[in-house]
Amino acid sequence: MVPTRASVTKTFGILTAGGDCPGLNAAIRGVCRAAHDRYGMNIIGIANGFRGLVEENTRVLRPVDFSGILTRGGTILGASREKPFKSTAGDAGEIVGEKVAAIKDTYHRLGLDCLVVLGGNGTNTTGCKLAREGLNVIGLPKTIDNDIAGTDRTFGFHSALAIGTEAIDRLHTTAQSHSRVIVIELMGRKAGWLALYAGVAGGGDIILVPEIPYDIKAIGRHLEERAMSGKTFSIVVVAEGALSVEEAKMEKRERKKYRTENGPSAAYRVAGQIQAETGMETRATVLGYVQRGGIPSASDRVLATSLGTAAADLLARGEYGRMAALIGNEIGSVDLSVPEGKVKTVPRDHYMIDTAVAVGTCMGV
Ligand code: F6P
Repeated sequence: MVPTRASVTKTFGILTAGGDCPGLNAAIRGVCRAAHDRYGMNIIGIANGFRGLVEENTRVLRPVDFSGILTRGGTILGASREKPFKSTAGDAGEIVGEKVAAIKDTYHRLGLDCLVVLGGNGTNTTGCKLAREGLNVIGLPKTIDNDIAGTDRTFGFHSALAIGTEAIDRLHTTAQSHSRVIVIELMGRKAGWLALYAGVAGGGDIILVPEIPYDIKAIGRHLEERAMSGKTFSIVVVAEGALSVEEAKMEKRERKKYRTENGPSAAYRVAGQIQAETGMETRATVLGYVQRGGIPSASDRVLATSLGTAAADLLARGEYGRMAALIGNEIGSVDLSVPEGKVKTVPRDHYMIDTAVAVGTCMGV
């Protein structure tokens, strides 16, 4: 393949960081095939997120490395949650400086013109901070949580939505067979997008998200009204970060103690509260890491590929300090400072909440 277009960027590094998700390899393929085939760029793969830069764990990526990975789950590069700017308890400030210095050394020793980072809020925030340290950085928005500011959707979200919806469908038949209330917990520690959308898609009767602290009395009333109307079962969809109105009033330390005493999982806490409040036979299921595994949905393959090729175009134009993004129905980009340090939570007036309520779903209040 003879490159047909000029490029400001001659060599770049690429890494995947934070929680993995379906679509990461599709995005890697999109960036690398466009950068290599269209622009003739050289590509350095960085292992295990930012840790690979700190440890200089890197390798040249060739077409054989990014061919045939469109449908593969996970990431061929590996991932970690290394946060080079975060000093943990016991770390002296210089250790934080040492990690950042090591990253900059590796970047320059490899002769990189740019670093492409595929990740969530934390990854793009680290990318933005490295840009302020003088490195050229381009970000891509990845997470099943869909909680990155600046993009209307993240790749990984639709795949996890399909997985969560299929699980809710399956729980309907067993809840109905046993006339039970079943509580299913989906991922989303700070934002409830996945629980909200999967709850609507799966016909959840109650949806609990971190953005709306729930009142167990309201939940009890809704379940009892359903029972009075002849519904012998109910499905409750809970985001892992969901909390009660009582928990919402607690200080962080008090909430941690409460959760140690009442179970770390939102699903099991809510199930216990429902059983105590209503006397209804209740069971809990935590879907967990199943939501992050397996092959990407068609929608995520398309989004990841188009964000990837858009990142290659940004590299070619030398438009650094940007995050490729879905804006409305268009692929564009935003300044890396847009997602920095933020979590895009579900606004109380978001249309999907009204949609859920309009079809009779209780949002816990
Ligand atoms: O950020 C995506 C995510 O899957 C969250 O939904 C979840 O709370 C978190 O990662 C789990 O983190 P880890 O993979 O470090 O256990």
